[in-house]
Amino acid sequence: MKQKRFYINTMGCQMNVYDSSRMAAALAQQQYKPVTDYRKADLVIVNTCTIRAKARQKAMSFVGRLEAEKRKDPDMIVAVAGCVAQQEGEGILDTFPQVDIVLGTQAVGRLPRLIDAVERDGIRRVDIAMSDAVVETDYPRGRVDQDVSDYVTIMKGCDNFCTYCVVPYVRGREASRLPENIVNEVKALVADGVREVILLGQNVNSYGNKENFGSFADLLSRINDVEGLMRLRFTTSHPKDLSDDLIEAFGRLDKLTNHFHLPVQAGSDRILRRMNRKYTRQSYLEKISRLREVRPDMAITTDIIAGFPGETNVDFRQTMTLLEEVQFDNIFAFMYSDRVLAPASRFKDKVPMPEKKRRLAALLERQKAISFSKNQRRVGNTETVLVEGLSKHALRKNKTEKAGENDQWSGRTTTNKVVNFYVDLDFAESQPVKSGSLVSVRIDDAFAYSLSGRATHILHDFKQTRGNVNAA
Ligand code: SAH
Ligand code: SF4
Ligand code: F3S
Repeated sequence: MKQKRFYINTMGCQMNVYDSSRMAAALAQQQYKPVTDYRKADLVIVNTCTIRAKARQKAMSFVGRLEAEKRKDPDMIVAVAGCVAQQEGEGILDTFPQVDIVLGTQAVGRLPRLIDAVERDGIRRVDIAMSDAVVETDYPRGRVDQDVSDYVTIMKGCDNFCTYCVVPYVRGREASRLPENIVNEVKALVADGVREVILLGQNVNSYGNKENFGSFADLLSRINDVEGLMRLRFTTSHPKDLSDDLIEAFGRLDKLTNHFHLPVQAGSDRILRRMNRKYTRQSYLEKISRLREVRPDMAITTDIIAGFPGETNVDFRQTMTLLEEVQFDNIFAFMYSDRVLAPASRFKDKVPMPEKKRRLAALLERQKAISFSKNQRRVGNTETVLVEGLSKHALRKNKTEKAGENDQWSGRTTTNKVVNFYVDLDFAESQPVKSGSLVSVRIDDAFAYSLSGRATHILHDFKQTRGNVNAA
């Protein structure tokens, strides 16, 4: 059979990253191999996001560019997957004659069949069927890449219906995977050299609730027991579902890292109510302080929406003061964006664009100063760093020069901060640093978004056991 080439452009959140890895794994089992230039591909998949208008625009402008490629190579197959595909279905075929396949978020497993069908008869296909159940065969997967950390999806969908958000409509209802299957997948990844696992779901805190699979904290306990796993992270958590049980797990489970991403969205109770978030500023703050009681060095990050409909200056100031009160390590802030499926798009009192911009800029500026000063306080500390690979700087340099002993490495602290570091030569010779090593790094300098320092010794090393994983 003729070898064919595929290219996947993955946009949006880790859900799409994960789905892309599944599509890539399925294609690799057929006659396809990946290429890095979409113009050289026989099959181009655009895995789209529509969380904000800009994300959709970016996705569709890439789809637009494929028209010229398709004209050059009429046999090229173009598939649009992900959340825009799920929402717009048929409509995409109408707007874009170059598109052959529209693949919804729950149709990822059916991609190979759709490709075969299009190749057979040239008829364009749309598959946006949704089902409420998690079908385990939905999850055969390949490695996202050969990194030391990898994602494991534990549940799909979202039942929260925050009024601004499109996710419940494009990802369907919450459904959790069987704990046994998750634990087995983690074991297989660890056997393949993964050191850190990041559990994924739109709201991992409600894992297993519907199915009576035991709590999320129970699942974490079981994964914590997997031998050879060094670090365990998860995202995302909803404050309303952050239980005492989960907070206590941080006291018990040594592999859980000192980082908690807890999206707050707004600091005003009035806005939180309009967002349908189901917690108050006060209850959010209480959960943060309990987390810090259990883990004093816990890094806290959050998501914030600036300029939600009806947000007054008084409301916005409450978000600004929340930054001061919590002292987040970092925030991801966005201007509110209308999504037709989400009810807030029909709210009347929209905040004008220039005001949204001003609020976003104010948030980012204040947070940059807070992040910087928090990181400054780490200078002089020794931090345990899981090495991910050469630093971006070294990778750029090595394009022109050979990898050398003065290379800068990069990894993360347990608080999820990026550390770029050089290695002291006296131990580098006997024990070369590599991805997956756990090293002690003395922090010499700090910036708003990263730290830098020198590695003083290796704490733990692993045999490289790389291969391909196909966990069920
Ligand atoms: N499930 C996760 C994240 C969902 S999307 C959670 O609940 O936290 C990631 C972030 O995008 C959200 O936390 C929110 O801050 C932002 N977001 C979602 N919809 C948005 C919209 N319509 N406009 C602006 N930001 C939005
Ligand atoms: Fe969207 Fe809210 Fe669900 Fe997060 S919890 S995915 S913000 S509806
Ligand atoms: Fe985007 Fe869909 Fe994720 S809308 S953020 S890719 S769930």
